[in-house]
This record gives sequence, C-alpha cells and structure tokens, in this order.
Amino acid sequence: MRVLVTGGAGFIGSHLVPELAGRGWSVVVLDDFSSGKMENLGGLVGSDGLRVVKGDVRDRKVVDEVLEGSMGLFIWPGSLTLPRLWTGLCSLMM
Ligand SMILES: NC(=O)c1ccc[n+]([C@@H]2O[C@H](COP(=O)([O-])OP(=O)(O)OC[C@H]3O[C@@H](n4cnc5c(N)ncnc54)[C@H](O)[C@@H]3O)[C@@H](O)[C@H]2O)c1
Repeated sequence: MRVLVTGGAGFIGSHLVPELAGRGWSVVVLDDFSSGKMENLGGLVGSDGLRVVKGDVRDRKVVDEVLEGSMGLFIWPGSLTLPRLWTGLCSLMM
C-alpha cells in the first residue's frame, strides 16, 4: 500500500508518517517545507519506505506525479477538522 501525505514534514506528519511506515506502507511526503522540517521525519529519511518530495500541494503537475500509484491520501495543510481527519484515518486503517 502506498500513501501520499501532504504536509508530512509538519507536526502531525511527524506522528502520522512513522505510524504508516511502521505498518509496512510505502509513504510519499509532499511538503513545501515552509514550516515543516526534514528532521520531523526522523530516522525514516533515506529509508526504502519513504519518498520525500519538496513541492506545493497547489501545483497540479507535482500532485499528479506523486499521486500516481498511491492508494491513499492524507491532507494536512488544509481545513479539515481533527474529528473528520481521525474518522478518515480510522476507516482507512481498518
Ligand atoms: N497540530 C494540531 O494539534 C492541530 C489540531 C487541529 C488542526 N490542525 C490542522 O492540521 C493541519 C496540520 O497541522 P500541523 O500541526 O501538522 O501543522 P504544521 O505547520 O506543523 O504542518 C503543516 C505542514 O504543511 C506544509 N505546508 C504548508 N503549506 C504547504 C503547501 N502549500 N504545500 C505543501 N506543503 C505545505 C508545511 O511545511 C508543514 O510541514 C493544519 O491545517 C492545522 O490547522 C492541527
């Protein structure tokens, strides 16, 4: 399973990405690093299960490229409320 996490280098991503990778999922992080940091991804940087792409979620070309082959999508720099996020997360992880 391959998933795309936008804003994955931020605070929530720093918890979500290791969780997903720990489940054996291949994770692609799309982040413009405007506030996120590579160190938030910790020991996963450089590992086979993680691909980090620097780019803007508003860039259609980049999004199309990173979405290809992905089965799931988590969007963080957005306006979703936490309850909606967790509902989505839980249903995807079951
Ligand atoms: N942290 C919380 O407790 C909390 C609670 C409720 C809601 N939220 C919401 O969840 C979202 C993420 O929260 P967070 O704490 O992880 O924030 P954060 O600022 O730590 O992470 C956001 C990430 O998105 C990246 N980013 C911003 N604009 C981007 C763009 N145009 N393209 C690509 N990447 C971009 C940033 O570089 C950063 O890594 C926010 O929308 C926040 O309002 C957070």
